[in-house]
Formats: sequence, structure tokens, C-alpha cells
Amino acid sequence: MNIAVYPGTFDPFTNGHKDLVQRASSNIFDKVYICVAENSKKDTLFSLSERIHLAEKSLHEIKNIEVIGFSGLLVDFAEKLNAKVILRGLRVVSDFEYEFQMSSMNKKLNNNIESIFLTPSESYAFLSSSLVKEIAELGGDISKFVNPEVRAALEKKYK
Ligand code: PNS
Repeated sequence: MNIAVYPGTFDPFTNGHKDLVQRASSNIFDKVYICVAENSKKDTLFSLSERIHLAEKSLHEIKNIEVIGFSGLLVDFAEKLNAKVILRGLRVVSDFEYEFQMSSMNKKLNNNIESIFLTPSESYAFLSSSLVKEIAELGGDISKFVNPEVRAALEKKYK
């Protein structure tokens, strides 16, 4: 079985994340685990359980996926799940340096796991969780960017 992990902070899960999961799970991998990082270096707006819940709601119609929280090293968690691939999205050139550093380090930590990058569909190339939060905080319309549950959760946070 061809298994991938798709790790991230997902604070919150967006349509850009969903687009990537959809393409990976329908065309490339037998199973994709969406791995929501607990101890991300970022201060998150949503708790781990909220971020997991919102990712699950956003992906409810996709069958061969599972959303799980994790803490500790990603490569160790991937190995436990029998995943041979770490999947990441690469949107713009400015993502590259950070992604290159992470994938190189992950490779040093576990040489059996490969990082694979997918570029977003054109309409999501500009999308990020941080921008969505900023727009929501300022009262803008985010309905094109996130699932309705995520939108409602953001509106509640910023009310
Ligand atoms: O979406 P993000 O916030 O860029 O995701 C970063 C994430 C969660 C993938 C990264 O911080 C991570 O893998 N954290 C787990 C801890 C770990 O393995 N750190 C070493 C990375 S080389």
C-alpha cells in the first residue's frame, strides 16, 4: 500500500489544503494521513482538537484519508503509520527555502522516507491560513477560501 502523510499546522484547514489532499488521494496514494501538528512553533488560533475537527469537516466526502493529531518528530510518526512519503504543498518561490531545509533534515533523520511536493491548483496559489485569518479578523468574506464550518468557527473566534 502506498501511504503518505500530509503534515501541517492547519490553523485552520483551507480549500487549498483540501485541493492538495483530493489530488493526492485520488490520483497518487492509496491512503493519505492528514497529520495535524500539536507542538508547532507557531502560536495557533485554534486548539489541536479544533484544528482536527475542522480538517475532518472539510474532508468529509473523501474516503481514503484520515485526520490525526501528532506530537514529536514527524518522521517517527510517519514510520509508525508505515508511510514512505511526506507530502507538502509548494505554492510560491518563498516557500522553497523552508521546505528544502525541512525535507533535507527529515531525510537525515530517516533516509527511508521521501518528501514529495505538489503545487496547488492555480486558483489556490495565493491562499494561506494566515491570510484567511487576517481577512476574517477584518470582517472580509472568506467563503471562497474555506469550508462553511471553518468560516463559522473563524467568525466565532473574531466576534
Ligand atoms: O504547515 P506548517 O506549519 O508549515 O507545518 C510545519 C510542520 C508541522 C510540518 C513541521 O513543523 C513539523 O514537521 N513538525 C513536527 C516536528 C518535527 O518533526 N520537526 C523537525 C522538522 S525537520
